[in-house]
Amino acid sequence: MNNDLNGLIKGLHHITLVTSNFEINNRFYTEILGLRRVKLSVNQDDIFHRHLFYSDYKGSAGATITFFEWPDLEMGKYGLGVHHHLSYVVNSLESLIKWKSWLNKNYVPTVGPLNRGEHISLYLRDPDGSIIEIISVNKEKIDQKYIDEMLKNLPNIKSIDNDMRFIKFDHAAPITSNYNVAERFFSKLLGLEKTSLTNNPDDENSYILKIGNIENQYFIQYIYHEAATWGEIGHGSIHHVAMLVEDESDQLKIMHKLNKLGIRNSGIVDRFWFKSLYFRDLEGNLFEIATKNPGYTVDEPFEKLGTRLILPPWLESMREKIEAKLKELDAKNKAIWPPKYPTLNEKPEKIL
Ligand SMILES: [Fe+2]
Ligand SMILES: [Fe+2]
Repeated sequence: MNNDLNGLIKGLHHITLVTSNFEINNRFYTEILGLRRVKLSVNQDDIFHRHLFYSDYKGSAGATITFFEWPDLEMGKYGLGVHHHLSYVVNSLESLIKWKSWLNKNYVPTVGPLNRGEHISLYLRDPDGSIIEIISVNKEKIDQKYIDEMLKNLPNIKSIDNDMRFIKFDHAAPITSNYNVAERFFSKLLGLEKTSLTNNPDDENSYILKIGNIENQYFIQYIYHEAATWGEIGHGSIHHVAMLVEDESDQLKIMHKLNKLGIRNSGIVDRFWFKSLYFRDLEGNLFEIATKNPGYTVDEPFEKLGTRLILPPWLESMREKIEAKLKELDAKNKAIWPPKYPTLNEKPEKIL
């Protein structure tokens, strides 16, 4: 790398998606996927709709998935400008097998676990249609036959045990129709580098472009297909992918670089739990650079994270009005449980 930004971006910070229903989303991510709700707030750019944050128990950067609740949108469509999927890593193949069993038991359709070479992947869709990949690193070079054998005897899982817990994100998967452009964007503007360009195991006309840094080599995995078409944001979409920097001075360096190269960006926005900088790559995929600190305990104690509606100080005077609007929203937006899950493609990373 020959870039002054080299090493500033550490990995992923959070990934933000769109849900159509707070109650279903909340039950799914806490009861079915075993995450902890670490913040319940409103969208600071759309204050009468919720913003939900789920994470590991500590609320770590790199493990937090967040949702904008927008009940009126249609289901989204991945494509250029709308990231395809995200993935969480777990301990072992045994953990993946337990997930398969647990998800089956809870009526959540899955594909896999599939041998992907360096890792093994189990795919699912959440109730809104977002694609989630659960990964275990394939240290022992296990083959598909061995996995298929294990699947014949699924263990009976009564609850999510510690061995199943999501540890952190493995990668986010935006879409590109031009891997050269995507690669140069990340190297020139963000100081990250291409790690590899490999065949997409789900589609012979498509490739996976892996981008990262020295410690964390694969956290962006573009799905590259020359004929990729535009996506549309809706429920089930990944809205944006946030990457982690240590502090605001590193964030400013990136902002100056974006400005220098004429890339439109939001400037630094104070999100209260972190500071944010937003921009799009050249095919419209939305990214954010977020600071590590101050974190989710800035406005509520650790033990109580996510248990009540938190508003940033500048919205506190509107609390009553906001709470009334959210109540109204819930009355109109009925939840059915268990939800009807959208079906999942047998080749989950095939985009066309
Ligand atoms: Fe993936
Ligand atoms: Fe964000």
